[in-house]
Amino acid sequence: MGQANVIDMLTEEHKQVDAMMDTYDGADVERRDRLVHEIIESLTKHARIEEQVLYPFIRAEVPDGDQLMDEAEREHQEAKDAIAKLSDLSPDDPAFDGAFQALRDGVRHHVEEEETEVFPKLTQAADEAKLVELGSRLAQAKALSTRMPRPPE
Ligand SMILES: [Fe+2]
Ligand SMILES: [Fe+2]
Repeated sequence: MGQANVIDMLTEEHKQVDAMMDTYDGADVERRDRLVHEIIESLTKHARIEEQVLYPFIRAEVPDGDQLMDEAEREHQEAKDAIAKLSDLSPDDPAFDGAFQALRDGVRHHVEEEETEVFPKLTQAADEAKLVELGSRLAQAKALSTRMPRPPE
């Protein structure tokens, strides 16, 4: 690979996590437990590398970037809160399902805003070479976060 553009990379991750969140509905309790752990891990990593690499760039370079990123970071925080709530519940708890649905709805809303509002504005503000450079920084941040997981916040 090597020449991946940051928007393509993040959009691909969105698709992967969306597919994982879709399989929840047909899964039994034991499978749900493992699945939700995987989803949480993917979402946490995804949000962290966006916050490290992409969001500061958007704040600095995209018109209305601060406003867009205030909203995006607020939505990341909501997802973190939903994850914390979900992590406190056992998968056979009657509240687990609702807590997962709340996380899924919030993530889908946030992803839609990124893909329909944030990424198009980023494309207007940065040329392909810049998007590829951000892509390689994103890949580095991802590799690093895989090797050295941070303690939960
Ligand atoms: Fe995000
Ligand atoms: Fe994202």
